[in-house]
Amino acid sequence: MPVVEPTAMAAALAAAGLDPKALPPLETLDAKQKLRVMKTFDEALGVACVDCHTEGDFAADTRRKRVAKRMWNEIVRVTALESGDAVYCDSCHRGAMFTLDRRDKAKVSDYMSDVFVGMMKRTDDRDHSCETCHGDPPDFKLVSSWKSAPAPDIQLAPALTEPQGESAPAREVR
Ligand code: HEC
Ligand code: HEC
Ligand code: HEC
Repeated sequence: MPVVEPTAMAAALAAAGLDPKALPPLETLDAKQKLRVMKTFDEALGVACVDCHTEGDFAADTRRKRVAKRMWNEIVRVTALESGDAVYCDSCHRGAMFTLDRRDKAKVSDYMSDVFVGMMKRTDDRDHSCETCHGDPPDFKLVSSWKSAPAPDIQLAPALTEPQGESAPAREVR
């Protein structure tokens, strides 16, 4: 199973006006940015657009879109390499949709502990552990869980979702 590497897609993201160390919620990108990001998804996972999308209807909800959106919003945006280098889809996927050899669950846990915890950290000040991705209590089938319901948007501060008034307080979006 692959180790986590610094993203090799910083240039492609920069071309979309995005900094891999400070990605906004996926749903806030404009149409042009989204299309550039979509091409990075294809390359990072070694897939084609239709592996996530229903043919002919990019706006339609699909199980893979649900997972992809949450990978961006809830894993990529909150983690970095221990070294401080940016993590993006390619850091873990390395050109493949499936990366885990699940035949031996103990080995998967060791891999998670050594690589997904040991080589990574959170971008906020909190301690990084299994909980960052699996939650508390841990859901070890998080991809299946994510497939079962539409992906939520990251809650935006009211100042950014409502028309900006003179008195609207500046709030930070995470
Ligand atoms: C790994 C899964 C994945 C792959 C592969 C992928 N997409 Fe997407 N795509 C998404 C997700 C998730 C969204 C929803 C983004 C959001 O929340 O706004 C999306 C949104 C879009 C949208 C905007 C649809 C709308 O709401 O109007 C377009 C257009 C699109 N994708 C085109 C493409 C194209 C073209 C490709 C191939 C180059 C591609 N996608 C590959 C996951 C994927
Ligand atoms: C910290 C590592 C990590 C990062 C970063 C990451 N993923 Fe994943 N992703 C995984 C693992 C592990 C799986 C489960 C793979 C398996 O079943 O072999 C997975 C599964 C998926 C799946 C589900 C495939 C399926 O149908 O079961 C999609 C889609 C996906 N990732 C998209 C993305 C996208 C898009 C990004 C970037 C926005 C991303 N991932 C970033 C680790 C990561
Ligand atoms: C950076 C995110 C991340 C961290 C941190 C992480 N995991 Fe995972 N883990 C995943 C993803 C994604 C999957 C794939 C889940 C799925 O397929 O539903 C996974 C799958 C697993 C599985 C396989 C479940 C199965 O039934 O096949 C086990 C076991 C597991 N993790 C244990 C751990 C343990 C123990 C830790 C802490 C030492 C940990 N993980 C930390 C992302 C993470």
